[in-house]
Amino acid sequence: MLTVIPDLLDGETLGRVRALVDAAEWVDGNVTSGHQSALAKRNLQLPEESPQAKQAGQIVLDALGRSALFIAAALPLKVFPPLFNSYAGGQAFGTHVDNAVRIQAGTGFRVRSDLSITVFLEDPESYDGGELTIETNFGVQRVKLPAGHAVLYPSSSLHRVEPVTRGRRVASFFWLQSMVRDDAARQMLFDLDSSIQALAVDLGHDNAQVIRLTGVYHNLLRRWADA
Ligand code: NI
Repeated sequence: MLTVIPDLLDGETLGRVRALVDAAEWVDGNVTSGHQSALAKRNLQLPEESPQAKQAGQIVLDALGRSALFIAAALPLKVFPPLFNSYAGGQAFGTHVDNAVRIQAGTGFRVRSDLSITVFLEDPESYDGGELTIETNFGVQRVKLPAGHAVLYPSSSLHRVEPVTRGRRVASFFWLQSMVRDDAARQMLFDLDSSIQALAVDLGHDNAQVIRLTGVYHNLLRRWADA
């Protein structure tokens, strides 16, 4: 499942993130890669320990924590601190699968990557290429979103970033471990939750069937979740 989170960052928040990121020192992106993906990756990144990256990452995490859509779709258990990358002058990231387990340098904090997140931080009109291309069961999806929008996708999927042939693509990217490991189970919970929310608007939160379905949602979550 791909989930787009529109306006994860509002204009003011996006401006704060960009001011931090633009003032930071960029390095070769291969510092965070596994061996296989290092072969395919040509971009720049902010180092994990960069103070600006840490501050900007915290702003992104705070925004995620306020997003009901993100929480319902991801059911997050542990989130890796957001990283930042930049592509320009033909840079790209060839087809790859993200590493299964991410370990934060210095702290040993470990996250199994169930979902990958990209937060777009640049106006899509200002660069050519740079689509996030994801191979799904329903075919290839090409994602290029307005600045401040985010996309969630299964870390298990083959994906790539197309070459940026004009301008510069800046984004935040990171991974999370979901309370519900299985993509299909997580998708069903999200669909059920979305329908319950819609029914509650039509019928009222105290409607007996809404209450019963809410119970089913929580009992499925209890059955499937690691917490
Ligand atoms: Ni990737």
